[in-house]
Amino acid sequence: MSFETDIKPLFRERDRGSMQSHFDLWSYDDVNTHADAILATLRAGTMPCDGAWPEADVERFERWIADGKPA
Ligand code: HEM
Repeated sequence: MSFETDIKPLFRERDRGSMQSHFDLWSYDDVNTHADAILATLRAGTMPCDGAWPEADVERFERWIADGKPA
């Protein structure tokens, strides 16, 4: 499990563009810093704004955090 292989591909170009004024979803450092806020919105289903992630993807993001957010 790593950011580059397992997490970054979950963020579409559109997600990145929409959120760029807050943080860069394709940047390990930014996602690392905002991981808790990102997880909260994914779990709540409020982000992405055009439809919630499948449960398996949310669980993958959760597991990545639990694993210590490997780059
Ligand atoms: C997986 C993809 C996405 C994630 C993880 C995500 C995550 C977040 C987070 C954590 C916030 C709260 C930011 C803060 O208050 O600092 C936020 C706000 C927001 N997001 Fe996203 N987002 C995603 C995709 C999108 C998309 C596709 C849109 C397109 C409309 C969008 C539009 C917004 C808007 C309008 C806000 C509120 C900004 C504000 O209050 O100024 N996001 N998002």
